[in-house]
Amino acid sequence: MSKIYITTAIPYVNGAPHIGHVMDYLLADVCYRYHVKLGDEVRFQTGTDEHGNKVFAKAKDAGIDVRDYASKNSQKFKDLITLLNVKPTGFIRTTDQDHERRCQEIWKRLENHIYKASYEGWYCEGCENFVTQKEHDENNGICPDHQKPYQKLSEENYYLKISDFKDKIIAAIKNDEMLILPDFRKKEMLELLKDAPDVSVSRPVKNLSWGVPIPGDDSQVMYVWIDALSNYITALGYPENDISNFWPADVQFVGKDILRFHTIIWPAMLMGLGLPLPKVICSHGFILADGQKMSKSIGNVVEPVEALEKHGIDAFRYYFLRHVDTFVDSDFTWEKFDNAYNNELANDLGNLVQRLATMAHKNNVSIDKIEIIEDKKYSELMNTFEFSKAFDYTWEKVQKINKRIDEEKPWEIAKNGTRKELETCLKSLINDLLFVNDLLSPFLPNATEKISKIFSINQEIAPPETPLFPKN
Ligand code: MSP
Repeated sequence: MSKIYITTAIPYVNGAPHIGHVMDYLLADVCYRYHVKLGDEVRFQTGTDEHGNKVFAKAKDAGIDVRDYASKNSQKFKDLITLLNVKPTGFIRTTDQDHERRCQEIWKRLENHIYKASYEGWYCEGCENFVTQKEHDENNGICPDHQKPYQKLSEENYYLKISDFKDKIIAAIKNDEMLILPDFRKKEMLELLKDAPDVSVSRPVKNLSWGVPIPGDDSQVMYVWIDALSNYITALGYPENDISNFWPADVQFVGKDILRFHTIIWPAMLMGLGLPLPKVICSHGFILADGQKMSKSIGNVVEPVEALEKHGIDAFRYYFLRHVDTFVDSDFTWEKFDNAYNNELANDLGNLVQRLATMAHKNNVSIDKIEIIEDKKYSELMNTFEFSKAFDYTWEKVQKINKRIDEEKPWEIAKNGTRKELETCLKSLINDLLFVNDLLSPFLPNATEKISKIFSINQEIAPPETPLFPKN
């Protein structure tokens, strides 16, 4: 048994969750359920990122007090997590008092690496990120991710000396002490790190008051990313608690757009605190709509609840965990989603359960044991976070059982064979199904639980009254 710590990025509460937010949750949940199944002691941490310009500006536009606005939206993320049957063991809000107090302690411990200087340059509010003149010019003054012009900032800020840590961070990434997945992103990050400047880690209160106050300086609040990244350890009780049971994290899930914060600022902070680096940072791609970025102005935004209501939770998890590649951008279209549900989930798995349960029922066959052996290839894919590949691999096994039924034709054995032959054939098919069901359980917890119940040991087997995946 190992102790495992899994985290997700914590989304901003500048609006309700959108479909892009589900990837962090789903990938972390698969990892969590897989390790629980292995008997590990697992902490799975998530939460909401509530400070900063972005949230403050939206609350102001809505004419709502920023605290109330943040609370209302934070609850929407919690609700989505429940709807997705995602099971975090901890949910932190960066406006929690304990978190704020711990962030201030972290700041004090980093003070040797912090200096004050004036900043004049560019900022993207959407990314909550300062950009260099070079990046500004290359993008013609407009942030490519948010399609908004960079703002000119001229202010006095505190800086974190990335220069104190850069060489050590590069070495840790190169030798996989902090493994960055996928490999092509690791290369991108090493390139970025080469000329990573020191980063501004505070904002003057006169420009932004919605943040954690800097200890000993009322005129400044913390840059939202310092506060947000700290959540991964404040949630464990750092600094007053010994966190060595769960830190370093075994894996931190983040989207590709925020990988750079986790490979530059975050390791610099950890090194400054004398803490080890996370073992793995796993960065996923983006969900696109018909090859395009989703945006309200294009009108192609997919609402998570709409997709969940269309075919239910299993279809949702099936699509986003199998058809959305774990590491690269993938498309969502309603047509692909419908096809995946009807032609794969309902046809391959739903029909398989129906057929086997019906034959077992008709011929009064039940099972008295299940033989589950380790599947090396599956474990290897799961242990390397290749979740969509592990799902593909497992789905081939579902299809193979269907093929076996077509080839072995148990209905003919029922007519022409002996009782023993029929029992052996059906029991072996059911065992195969339950073996695959076990492999599928981190991906499809709802459906696999129902399947386990249908084929319980030493009980009469009967097909479900309504099909597992009704066609519509
Ligand atoms: N608050 C920061 C994260 C701080 S972590 C210490 C943030 N929030 S976010 O709301 O913008 O994004 C939250 C997560 O959702 C990130 O991992 C981000 O990459 C992911 N996604 C946002 N849009 C996405 C898609 N369209 N597709 C997939 N994931 C995307 O960044």
